[in-house]
Amino acid sequence: MGKPKIFATRRFPAEVEKRLYASYDVVMNDNDQPLDISDYARYADGCDGLMISPTEKMDRTAINTLPESIKIISTFSVGYDHIDVAAANARDITISNTPDVLTDATADIAMLCMLGAARQAQASEKSLREGGWGRWMPSGYLGTHMSGKRLGILGMGNIGQAVARRAKGFDMPIHYHNRRPVEEANVLDAIYHDSIESLLAVSDFLSINCPLTDNTHHLINKDRINLMPDGAILVNTARGPVIKDIDVIAALKTGKLAAAGLDVFEGEPNINPEYLTLDNVFLVPHIGSATYETRNDMGFKCLDNLDAFFAGTKLPSQVSL
Ligand code: DGY
Repeated sequence: MGKPKIFATRRFPAEVEKRLYASYDVVMNDNDQPLDISDYARYADGCDGLMISPTEKMDRTAINTLPESIKIISTFSVGYDHIDVAAANARDITISNTPDVLTDATADIAMLCMLGAARQAQASEKSLREGGWGRWMPSGYLGTHMSGKRLGILGMGNIGQAVARRAKGFDMPIHYHNRRPVEEANVLDAIYHDSIESLLAVSDFLSINCPLTDNTHHLINKDRINLMPDGAILVNTARGPVIKDIDVIAALKTGKLAAAGLDVFEGEPNINPEYLTLDNVFLVPHIGSATYETRNDMGFKCLDNLDAFFAGTKLPSQVSL
């Protein structure tokens, strides 16, 4: 029997592609441009599986355009909100993702966003680059101290826990909300809140680390922001649509939120343009997992999932509903 045939919807890191080509017949979207749903069937014709990234929306319509021969979709991401898992399962298509390997990289970016927002990194850097530094000023570029401030973590999975460990090093008392208490949080003296409302009330900083689901869509809206302490700082490294942009922007304008640090955006890369006009937001373009090591590990995990699937063994990380 020949090698299984995989349609790769994006270009992946060189080492990952090397292994992909060694193990599979590959149909590659060589120019790496986003594909239209109508292109999927043509590219995937005769393929056994797909290797995709979060930029490919695999909703029910897209899944139903795939040829019958497709039996697995391996996504190069921990998040799988871009895939309609129920629709895939109904077609007997297995879904796999890449948890664990991007925990540290993403938690690092959460800290970068936290510091960037708290210390006016974007506004001060911009001013320096534009020649506007002038003299050192006793009251110039003032930000907010992190030490001693309460950090609320929304979603205490692997990434939330890694953020908590890092924030502990900044002497921040940790609070969190999760579906259930997490044992690992005890060693960090993290305080569990059984409701999001109770967490928000004590969150001088709020780090969003929960997945995007129907339940978390626009979770951080005007009413919930109003529950936070005045001058709180919001950090999102999870998924853009967990926050409602127009409400966050309004709160950044009034100072209800002193600042925000954002790595992910609703509709990215077409972000709400108002963010670009605000000095109190620190913005980075969805780089949570963007280290050489992490992107390789994500690719290898995608391949481990494909290898296991075609070997008929248990997948390292299969997504189930
Ligand atoms: C993921 O894996 O879900 C990330 O958002 C990609 O960095």
